[in-house]
Amino acid sequence: MRWVDMTPPVVCLAPMDGITDTAYRQVVRSLAPGVVLFSEFTSADGFTRSARVRRRLEFAAEERPYFVQLFGSTPQTFVEAALALEAQGVTGIDINMGCPARKIVASMHGSGLMREPYLACRIVEAVARACRVDVSVKTRLGWRDAAGLIPFARSLADAGASLLTIHGRTYDQGFKGQADWAPIHALKRQVAIPVLGNGDVADAADGLSRMGDLDGFMIGRAAIGNPWAFRAPGEPAPTLPERVAVMLEHFERMLRVKPERLAVIEFRKHLVGYLKGFDFASHARRTLLEAPDRATLVRRLEALAAGGWLPEPPPAVATAAQGLALAG
Ligand SMILES: Cc1cc2nc3c(=O)[nH]c(=O)nc-3n(C[C@H](O)[C@H](O)[C@H](O)COP(=O)(O)O)c2cc1C
Repeated sequence: MRWVDMTPPVVCLAPMDGITDTAYRQVVRSLAPGVVLFSEFTSADGFTRSARVRRRLEFAAEERPYFVQLFGSTPQTFVEAALALEAQGVTGIDINMGCPARKIVASMHGSGLMREPYLACRIVEAVARACRVDVSVKTRLGWRDAAGLIPFARSLADAGASLLTIHGRTYDQGFKGQADWAPIHALKRQVAIPVLGNGDVADAADGLSRMGDLDGFMIGRAAIGNPWAFRAPGEPAPTLPERVAVMLEHFERMLRVKPERLAVIEFRKHLVGYLKGFDFASHARRTLLEAPDRATLVRRLEALAAGGWLPEPPPAVATAAQGLALAG
């Protein structure tokens, strides 16, 4: 499937490092069949050199439409990685030109490429020439302001990008302030390729209300531990037992691809999202977040689904209570 075959609105799970791994992408896919999934960003250099990095990018066929996002600054390395990924059946290659992390930018990767438009275009051109799959770019409004967005985007389109996603913040803003979608709408009127908006979308209904004549939108933070962010407007919110069933499935999928210790730690980022909006005692939330291993976490989640509360007090509370008893 290519962008031209997709009917707007194109709704996407935004690429998020440490979040949008194969386990979570499969969870989103099971609840949102039409959503386009993006991988965590991955170094093109790392992909070509390291079997571990390549293994991390393995995906299930049902994840398609699925884009792998790469970062780097060497056109030839992008081409090598993109060709290997194309052979594995990805829908497209997304090039990261938006990450503001200091280490990434200092190496002329991510947002750094906004300041190196010639190199940015050579990367897009090299990948677009070498591959048949879509080549997209995800970037920000600009470095300090959005003044250069239109010329930058036009040159990326001329170089062969078939889709642009714009996060409505500048490099300078990082994640501060509110995303400004006005420059994204202005850009859409100036380029022929599809444009997706990104930044502060709370759910599908919110994305639809923001998108105007854009081709679609991405949901990032609001989708962490919330695969229901993509549900159609008006669809009912999941009940607690439904939520817990998905949490358990998500956690089990993580265990298939990561060591238990890592899965338990990484799952906590999602747990916060999954538990949002429920009126739990704060100790119940903490009990789940502090579960040290698979067996404990699963047992506590099952207790949560069965009774809506957690019978085991967390160790810190128990210790404090014992302390008080002793002091008394
Ligand atoms: C934890 C986290 C990891 C992220 N990792 C990536 C990434 O790997 N690649 C990327 O292009 N953007 C990344 N982003 C940015 C998001 O894709 C998105 O552009 C940003 O969060 C704004 O959208 P939102 O308001 O819907 O979250 C990340 C954001 C977060 C919160």
